[in-house]
Amino acid sequence: MTPTDKNRVKSPGEGLAWPGQDNLTRLEDMRGEARQGGGAKRAAEQHGRGKLTARERVDLLLDEGSFEEFDVLKTGRGGHLGSGQEYLSDGVITGHGTIDGREVFLFSQDFTVIGGSLGEAHSEKIAKVMDQAVRVGAPFIGLNDSGGARIQEGVDALAAYGEIFNRNVMASGVIPQISCIMGPCAGGAVYSPAMTDFVFMVENSSYMFVTGPNVVKTVIHQDISLEDLGGPSVHAEKSGVAHFVLPNDILCLREVRRLINYLPSNNRQKPPFLDLSDPPDRSDPALDYLVPSNPNQPYDMRILIHSILDGAEFLEVHPAFAKNLIVGFGRLGGETIGLIANQPAALAGVLDTNASVKGARFVRFCDTFNIPLVCLVDVPGFMPGPDQEHGGIIRHGSKLLYAFIEATVPRITVVLRKAYGGAYVVMNSKHIGADINYAWPTAEIAVMGPRGAAEVIYRKEIQAAADPAAALQEKEALYRSTFANPFLAAKRGYIDDVIFPRDTRKKLIRSLQFLEGKTTARPRRKHGNIAL
Ligand code: HXC
Repeated sequence: MTPTDKNRVKSPGEGLAWPGQDNLTRLEDMRGEARQGGGAKRAAEQHGRGKLTARERVDLLLDEGSFEEFDVLKTGRGGHLGSGQEYLSDGVITGHGTIDGREVFLFSQDFTVIGGSLGEAHSEKIAKVMDQAVRVGAPFIGLNDSGGARIQEGVDALAAYGEIFNRNVMASGVIPQISCIMGPCAGGAVYSPAMTDFVFMVENSSYMFVTGPNVVKTVIHQDISLEDLGGPSVHAEKSGVAHFVLPNDILCLREVRRLINYLPSNNRQKPPFLDLSDPPDRSDPALDYLVPSNPNQPYDMRILIHSILDGAEFLEVHPAFAKNLIVGFGRLGGETIGLIANQPAALAGVLDTNASVKGARFVRFCDTFNIPLVCLVDVPGFMPGPDQEHGGIIRHGSKLLYAFIEATVPRITVVLRKAYGGAYVVMNSKHIGADINYAWPTAEIAVMGPRGAAEVIYRKEIQAAADPAAALQEKEALYRSTFANPFLAAKRGYIDDVIFPRDTRKKLIRSLQFLEGKTTARPRRKHGNIAL
């Protein structure tokens, strides 16, 4: 023994067996067991259906190595049928991690464990991360892949859903909530995703319905497939439940990351600034020729949208539903904006029931999360006819009106061409509180289109004319020269400026800069009563 060895101070516990070693080994074993979920065979079945496992999804959604998991060791309580099935983690993975460095909370249901069904413990795990997300002000993302309420747990499973529904409502308007449907979603379980801000679905593997094909067959004697009843295309195009549909899990999770990048973490923050190195004063001379000289000729509003936004990047929400109104997120001068635009290339850009509801929900989301609104207008009016009237165009149209009026974020409008009647007022006009209203020289701001107006106000003269068709044309031309322009509205100050189309981006960015400090007072009330 050298003198140095003799004098060395022993570290605590040196030479002794570590008392925590047994538990550490047990912990590693249990973690390993939890990671197995329902086992390799079920995981292979999941892959066979073109689906990723719950853990693979979490890994893809979050920044590499950022996931912190909670409640790995939590187990279910077995239920009332004595099934004896008790899985670590109870069929759901919960925790938090980052997306491009920003914190998010999440759950990911594991279909390989009792079909991802939701019982008491499973729900408690989800509730815990929802509470944490609200407490710290971070977005919440649910990856749903579940057979619904765990049948063995009876009413306890239904109560467990109630716990989640309560939290969805309390978190609404406080933190962004996103649902991905990546497997079955049936019964009352669909209402949790429906109450979140955005619903993603995956082609060929997801469906949502309140009652499945078997119940449909029993009650109304109709044969219908899962896909036709509640598949992604149904919800993207017809019901409007799904805001985004992606071909597979990987692209779905990538799109969620993209969406998160436009949103603030909570309602007290502004959305993140992102400089895409696109000059704010960039002009686009091609825009001067966007509106065709024939007023009845359609054009694609997306050309303008891509031209004005930073880097031409636009995340369209609800692209397949009510195509006559385009809504989505983009950036102007690095700041997120919510864009609402009539689409002349679909139903001439008319407002109907679906477009009104789509627009209203989007406007309310943006207002809740401090996202300025930019409205691009070319609207011939509300859709006429019994289908729309009986379908509630009065009630639904009022939602869009209500949503705009209620919104206190900066609000800017550009009228490109038609802005007729009630639809002009509803589409973020000065009269309902828009901050800045621009018009292109091609704008036509009037009570109605020239043909309809001439037929109403000159009806008797036209009927009495020797050549009624020529008389109608003459009166139409008279009306057009008087009203089919932006000048009457500009004279009244309802239009702040008539601008060159090529300068639209520059004008919008400048306006958004000065509107940044906008404040608006509202009367005290519990909440308004939007015509739902
Ligand atoms: C318990 C369930 C379950 C459930 C599936 N499993 N759903 N266990 N409760 N709700 C189990 C199955 O027994 C099976 O276990 C495993 O999960 C995989 O299910 P499979 O049927 O083999 O898979 P698949 O053929 O793909 O069919 C998936 C399915 C089907 C379509 C989801 O399982 C199904 O119809 N489940 C019931 C759906 C349902 O009606 N849920 C209640 C909805 S009402 P083993 O051990 O055999 O592998 C609801 C109310 C919410 O949720 C109320 C909120 C207020």
